Amino acid sequence: MVIHFTCNGKPVTVDVDGDMRVLDVLRDVLDLTGTKEGCGEGECGACTIILNGKTVNSCLLYAGKLQGAVVETIEGLSGDSAGLHPIQESFLEEGAVQCGFCTPGMVLSTKALLDRHPDPSIKEIETALSGNFCRCTGYGKIMKAVVSSAEKLRDSREDGHQSGTGLGVKRG
Ligand code: FES
Ligand code: FES
Repeated sequence: MVIHFTCNGKPVTVDVDGDMRVLDVLRDVLDLTGTKEGCGEGECGACTIILNGKTVNSCLLYAGKLQGAVVETIEGLSGDSAGLHPIQESFLEEGAVQCGFCTPGMVLSTKALLDRHPDPSIKEIETALSGNFCRCTGYGKIMKAVVSSAEKLRDSREDGHQSGTGLGVKRG
């Protein structure tokens, strides 16, 4: 089936079997291998993407769900800039990355949360990350990274408003 959707801000057309998983469309057809496969059963969150503003497990969805959709993957997070998104910077600064396998999913769940709640409570952060498992870092550093990300994004918004340039952060 021919599927048209928007991926990381750009229009994309793919011609794939309807029973292909979204995860495989991203990794094998579009070569967006930042989205990882852990369990393949909807349990670990390594395959998390943002679909129409909400986090989903791309291993559980068939390609047809992409028709007309707006998708964000880890590759699009910093937009056209060569630098890191503030969430990625915070994960590095707080030591919240070890093997990195869970990190794209963690970062996208963080982005979806902070898009909705710029100043989330600890409970809201825990809930937002409850579907993302990490086997090596431990969740303390990840929680700190999310809090720090939220502060950075709020600060950059304030700077943007003060300078009259709108948001100071590129969005993927
Ligand atoms: S690979 Fe999709 S939830 Fe684990
Ligand atoms: S950093 Fe290794 S699984 Fe999270």
